[in-house]
Amino acid sequence: MELGAGGMRRSASHTSLSESDDFDLSRLLNKPRINVERQRSFDDRSLSDVSYSGGHARGGGGFDGMYSPGGGLRSLVGTPASSALHSFEPHPIVGDAWEALRRSLVFFRGQPLGTIAAYDHASEEVLNYDQVFVRDFVPSAMAFLMNGEPEIVKNFLLKTVLLQGWEKKVDRFKLGEGAMPASFKVLHDDKKGTDTLHADFGESAIGRVAPVDSGFWWIILLRAYTKSTGDLTLAEKPECQKAMRLILSLCLSEGFDTFPTLLCADGCCMIDRRMGVYGYPIEIQSLFFMALRCALLMLKHDAEGKDFVERIATRLHALSYHMRSYFWLDFQQLNDIYRYKTEEYSHTAVNKFNVIPDSIPDWLFDFMPCQGGFFVGNVSPARMDFRWFALGNMIAIVSSLATPEQSMAIMDLIEERWEELIGEMPLKICYPAIENHEWRIVTGCDPKNTRWSYHNGGSWPVLLWLLTAASIKTGRPQIARRAIDLAERRLLKDGWPEYYDGKLGKYVGKQARKFQTWSIAGYLVAKMLLEDPSHLGMIALEEDKAMKPVLRRSASWTN
Ligand code: GLC
Repeated sequence: MELGAGGMRRSASHTSLSESDDFDLSRLLNKPRINVERQRSFDDRSLSDVSYSGGHARGGGGFDGMYSPGGGLRSLVGTPASSALHSFEPHPIVGDAWEALRRSLVFFRGQPLGTIAAYDHASEEVLNYDQVFVRDFVPSAMAFLMNGEPEIVKNFLLKTVLLQGWEKKVDRFKLGEGAMPASFKVLHDDKKGTDTLHADFGESAIGRVAPVDSGFWWIILLRAYTKSTGDLTLAEKPECQKAMRLILSLCLSEGFDTFPTLLCADGCCMIDRRMGVYGYPIEIQSLFFMALRCALLMLKHDAEGKDFVERIATRLHALSYHMRSYFWLDFQQLNDIYRYKTEEYSHTAVNKFNVIPDSIPDWLFDFMPCQGGFFVGNVSPARMDFRWFALGNMIAIVSSLATPEQSMAIMDLIEERWEELIGEMPLKICYPAIENHEWRIVTGCDPKNTRWSYHNGGSWPVLLWLLTAASIKTGRPQIARRAIDLAERRLLKDGWPEYYDGKLGKYVGKQARKFQTWSIAGYLVAKMLLEDPSHLGMIALEEDKAMKPVLRRSASWTN
């Protein structure tokens, strides 16, 4: 067993993970510093935050030092290793956050296995907030990994594989083998002294939607674990290889699609209720792209894996082209759409999806800055959902689905539209809210998703970790710093709410849970990322030079 440049053990079947991935990421580490010098708006404080690496146990802050056995730091109680390792004083709420995060731990047969969604005893109805949600656990897992506590993440990854193996049925209909649960629960029987698991694949969920994002998050987390610990043996296990293949079979299967994007039902991701996010929602497309790239780094090129490796490469190529060309919107593109002709037939059509210019909402003309842009919410025949969705855009940056120019433009947009997208609490899940008649039609009169509340334009602190990762990746950590400062003023005082309401995100959400775990973990991850940007390596993927560079949009629309 030989240790690779990034602390990864090399193995013949994993050349991609141990070599090219490390290579990419070692370059990534230098990126913020290089960019830091270019940034005009950089203040001294954020500069020292970004380049800080002294006195850290990981050694020099380089990727070479990423593999840290942790030793005594792995305990699940006590001081967070991350702040103990730094010479500067952590913000006073960091300690409270760690305490609250540890309180949300769920144990299975004595082993920590995950974190419950919310530890809110004051709330009258628990619903399913006492469960471990796969997507909610991701920021918790990142926090534990960054703190040198990978065991819980490993347990989680292995147990969810077992759950995936269950037969899943909604009424009499059997779900695909690869489906991963939205959430699960540990049932303790005190009398018998036994622990059993109960998982929900959508058959109990409100709306009965299977979570398409769970499998993607699982793959992304497996790669984060591998990257952070240097332990390749987990990803190499036959059960993990099989789990990846099963997830991929579900989304790479051939059908009637004319687009490389993934078709799905409303509410199959973080926005898990009807919100007009059916079809080809950006959140799923970005996660799909990222999971494909992570899987490509971890899949063995053996008899069973080889075929998938080829299919992934082909899909990634088509998917990045499609997303970068057709989902991208900036001032120029908006102006082009505004002047579109419609009803064009044949492959020479410029307006390929027959978007009717009248369908461009009024708010967008004012919202779109001269500098900046974003991936729109959805693109399908005659339907462009022009709303901004935070998660999809942030994942597009960290996964390098967005080109470097597009990533910069997204961050420009956030700065230009700070009041709308960040306001008083980071970060709007989507913008703008839908109201009145449109709200009735799109949400089915959902009383939880009223305008500027919850999924309909609410502000979700959990998104802070992704904003921070994207800010660091684009060399603009001052954006994260500003957002974290805002969050720190309120989060602890308000009891770590799930979301905030209102145009500016000023009010604690109407039905927001308190002590929402991913609000807590998201904050901690954001803090640790800023303190030590080398952590970005476990989250972000550097641009894949092999992926064909995007054609200029104008060219792609005319050929
Ligand atoms: C809400 C969110 C969903 C989250 C769940 C548990 O349903 O929409 O994304 O996973 O709560 O926190």
